[in-house]
Amino acid sequence: MKNIDNHIYVIFGASGDLTKRKLVPALYSLYVQGMLPERFVLLGTSRSEFDDDVFRNYMKDAIKKFKEIDDESKIDEFCKILFYIPIGFNDKSAYIKLKNKLDDLRKQFDINGNTIFYLSTPPSLYGIIPQNLASVGLNKQIDGWKRLIIEKPFGYDLESAIKLKEQLLNNWEEEQLYRIDHYLGKETVQNLLVTRFSNGIFEPLWNRNYVHHIEITSTESIGVEKRGGYYESSGALRDMVQNHLLHIVGLIAMEPPTSVEPYAIRNEILKVFQSLRQFKKDDVRNSVIRGQYTASKIKNEVVKGYREEEGVNPESITETYAALKFYIDNWRWGGVPFYVRTGKRLPTRITEVVIHFKPTPHFLFAKKEMDNACNLLIIRIQPDEGILLKFSMKTPGAGFDVQNVNMDFHYSDLTNQRIPPAYERLLHDTMKGDSTLFPRTEEVLEAWKFLMPVIECWKNDKNVPLYGYPAGTWGPKNADYLIQDGMGWHYPCKDLAEDGVYCEL
Ligand code: BG6
Repeated sequence: MKNIDNHIYVIFGASGDLTKRKLVPALYSLYVQGMLPERFVLLGTSRSEFDDDVFRNYMKDAIKKFKEIDDESKIDEFCKILFYIPIGFNDKSAYIKLKNKLDDLRKQFDINGNTIFYLSTPPSLYGIIPQNLASVGLNKQIDGWKRLIIEKPFGYDLESAIKLKEQLLNNWEEEQLYRIDHYLGKETVQNLLVTRFSNGIFEPLWNRNYVHHIEITSTESIGVEKRGGYYESSGALRDMVQNHLLHIVGLIAMEPPTSVEPYAIRNEILKVFQSLRQFKKDDVRNSVIRGQYTASKIKNEVVKGYREEEGVNPESITETYAALKFYIDNWRWGGVPFYVRTGKRLPTRITEVVIHFKPTPHFLFAKKEMDNACNLLIIRIQPDEGILLKFSMKTPGAGFDVQNVNMDFHYSDLTNQRIPPAYERLLHDTMKGDSTLFPRTEEVLEAWKFLMPVIECWKNDKNVPLYGYPAGTWGPKNADYLIQDGMGWHYPCKDLAEDGVYCEL
């Protein structure tokens, strides 16, 4: 590709799960599509004592298993540009070894100093690795650009996020940092911008005058699987809301940017975050609901409760479900409630935004007062990506009976081109140096600032309930009462939910 400079891609944590499931398969897809630069090398590193061949074979298997493109013909060819070097990340002297290895590869492949460092490591190493890279000059952009990619979590709370910011910005410039939020790499998340700002019909209605409330739902049917250890120190609020879902809020609520340049878009998202109304300590109980899945049966199969999962404290109070109601205090959204919910072990995997428009001021035809299934714009982020408009029509025949109908668009109808998976898009952007889809420091800090009252209240006030919900149901019933006027959440497929017994844990 002409517009991507030749470079070396270094992955720290190359023997880990993310590398094999997402990163290398995404790089392979780019390779197959001819989207990598002419001269490109991938250097894996971790503590594991692999050599190039062991690493190549390991990645070969990984690509076969996790590839997102239907083509195995180039795996051997691709693996020839994979290299490996074992280093201890805390060992300063090992970075000299790494630098020498990079110099060798540069000479061998005729690549200048352009380098991407991807930290696919535990977050506890986000301070030390960038610092050690800097100690041997691998942050300096004299012989070519240097970029640093980190994966969430970007801190554990506001304080640790500020500390991380200081550690990173000590030796690296903000423009060199790319924070991966894989939701922003989803095609349909990006489409939120296009839907809003390339159509004249939606934008005039996109405000407090016409919108009654907005829901953002992201549910999963899986539990914590093998990630109990990580999840224990995270929970749904930190795992999904602080990053992915608040960014969707940002895209839904932002003002039109002046251009599609990274700064223009990120500035508008930042302004939304700065306008989020801070929860007061007393609000948390009424505005935020937390839950944890309990053992249950799904389709006759016994499913463990969260507390029985591997790596989880049997008395854990970590939430696997969170639902929030909040406001954005600005001219566009003053008074419009936003509702966000997410949870594991719910009936299905779905991420969607539901814009509820206000009803007509007067009901001419026989109709219920406020119909929750009408005047909705549903933007389906996954699966079955698309947009659905629900509105009223006359039922054919005598009289003026009214019925709700759908106008339905499925992304899959648009084209038979494949939708690139999030990592593929984001890795490609890091190579191009396009940071539009990567949250910058201020956004991360504002998001933490917004959630801190919730985090502190849950930690300090033992009286805030943690509701148990049986695995396979839609989460705590109490979350339904968050939505005012008794309207309840939009249930994409209510029939899937088995009614269970809800209790306070
Ligand atoms: C990750 C979370 O960021 O997103 C996981 O850590 C979650 O807990 C995942 O399962 C959901 O991503 P997706 O793309 O499957 O919706």
